[in-house]
This record gives sequence, C-alpha cells and structure tokens, in this order.
Amino acid sequence: MVDPIHPGEVWLVGAGPGDPELLTRKAERLIGEASVVFYDALVGPGVLDLARPGTRLVHVGKRSGRHSKDQKTIDKLIVEAALAGERVVRLKGGDPSIFGRSTEELTACRAAGVPVHICPGVTAASAAAAGLGASLTLRGLARKLVFLTAHAQAGDKLDIDWQAAADPQATLAVYMGKSSAQMLTVGLITAGLPGSTPVAMVENASLPDERRFTTRLDLLPLAARTALGDGPALLLIGEAMRVDEAVPAPLSYSAFSQRTMP
Ligand SMILES: C[S@@+](CC[C@H](N)C(=O)[O-])C[C@H]1O[C@@H](n2cnc3c(N)ncnc32)[C@H](O)[C@@H]1O
Repeated sequence: MVDPIHPGEVWLVGAGPGDPELLTRKAERLIGEASVVFYDALVGPGVLDLARPGTRLVHVGKRSGRHSKDQKTIDKLIVEAALAGERVVRLKGGDPSIFGRSTEELTACRAAGVPVHICPGVTAASAAAAGLGASLTLRGLARKLVFLTAHAQAGDKLDIDWQAAADPQATLAVYMGKSSAQMLTVGLITAGLPGSTPVAMVENASLPDERRFTTRLDLLPLAARTALGDGPALLLIGEAMRVDEAVPAPLSYSAFSQRTMP
C-alpha cells in the first residue's frame, strides 16, 4: 500500500543486513521521500545513496562498546525533527523489531503525539542462512527458531534461560554473540546441548566482504576468537546448520572451515 510520509511523521524503517538489494521496495520509497534520515552504524552506504540530494543524513550509530549517541538522545532527536515538520526516517539495520530498540522510539513518538509507523526489513539471521545456502528450520530436526541476544555489559553474566535455549530441536540465531561465545558454549553444554552441535558463524552477511565459517558448539569460543574480525556477526546454532558434511568435527582448530563467496 502506498502511504507517503507526511510532514511531522516518523517511519522506523528496516534497512536489511547491508546489501541494498535486500531492501523492501517500501523502504526504498520511504528513504527517497524523507527530509531527514537518522541511521544506525550497521546501515550500508549503498542504502543511504537512495536518499534524495538535500536530505539530511544523521548518523546515530551504536556499535558494541562504541556508542556515539545514547538511546534517549536518539528518541529526542527523532521526536524534535517530527515536531519541526520534517519527514523522518529512522533507518535501522535488519528488521526494526528484532533487537532494534524500537519500543523506546515508538513510545517516545506516541508520548509526544507524533504519528509513527514501522516498515519491516530482512533480519541478519535470514541473510546469514541465505549466505550459507541453508534453511533456518529443518523438517523433523529444527522445529523452532529462537532469536537470542547474547549482549552482556562488560563483566556481566548473560541473562539467558539455558534450559529453554538448549533445545536440540531449535535453531538459535544469536545476535551480538561474538564476545559472549565462551558463556554461550558453557551455558548450552551445561544445560545438555551436545558439544558436537553444529554452529555457523557469518560475518558481514550479504555484504561483499561476507565471511562464513562452520564449527561445533564446543569449539565455538576458539573459532569466534580466531576467525571473526570486526564486522557484525551472527551465530547460528543447531542441527539445521549441519551444512557442510565434508567438514569433520575433530576437537581441534581445524574443525571450522571458512567458506568464501562463490
Ligand atoms: C543491535 S542488533 C540489530 C539486529 C537487526 N535489527 C536485525 O534484524 O538484523 C546488531 C547485531 O545484529 C547482527 N547483524 C546485523 N547485521 C549483520 C550482518 N550484516 N551480518 C551478520 N550479523 C549482523 C550482529 O549480531 C550484530 O551485532
């Protein structure tokens, strides 16, 4: 449905995982109609290129440990812009409703009487699975898909229900899990998930420098530490990730393999 942005309105728009071709047509149109775009660190340059000349582009990016603007400031900025009569796009990596702090922004807009809408996007887990050539669910083996955040403040333990997470019939899509790999492995294995459970790690999913690795749960901390770089990474844990049967699973560093882009 074509629903143009009116002055004084805010749209929370999913920018997808990075590849501009994974934007929805609606997202593309909304970006083109905006007078101001507040964008996250994980929004790719190709996506911002879709803004009209003259559109104000404001970086409000937050990356783990490198917060440039806190959430309250972002809430205030988008509300002020809308109240000033701007057509506001708040561009968020992936899907705004998945670990995107959208509720705070929706609440701030509604409290100020600002009309606010959501345009969904392709989440990183979907892009990561696509890059691997795998399905997130698997008939009979992976009947459940769990979106999990493994973001912990420095020194804090992860607040995860390990018994529920260690479901052998689930695929766990772990966001912000790179630095918590050790805690994830210990928590899941202690709760009963086999150490041999396959794990895929995808860095920069959908971008030209995408890198994919396969490993197993008991080797995940080593694999994450040695293989992953600075880019955003998604961890996929579960039987559906047994995507590379050619890779043996000895308890050694060689048990994870890098897959390059075709
Ligand atoms: C704050 S969350 C935002 C998730 C986003 N709303 C989504 O739906 O994908 C940021 C985390 O998403 C994951 N992520 C986002 N983009 C990614 C990409 N292109 N490749 C791999 N992981 C990505 C990483 O785990 C990153 O730390």
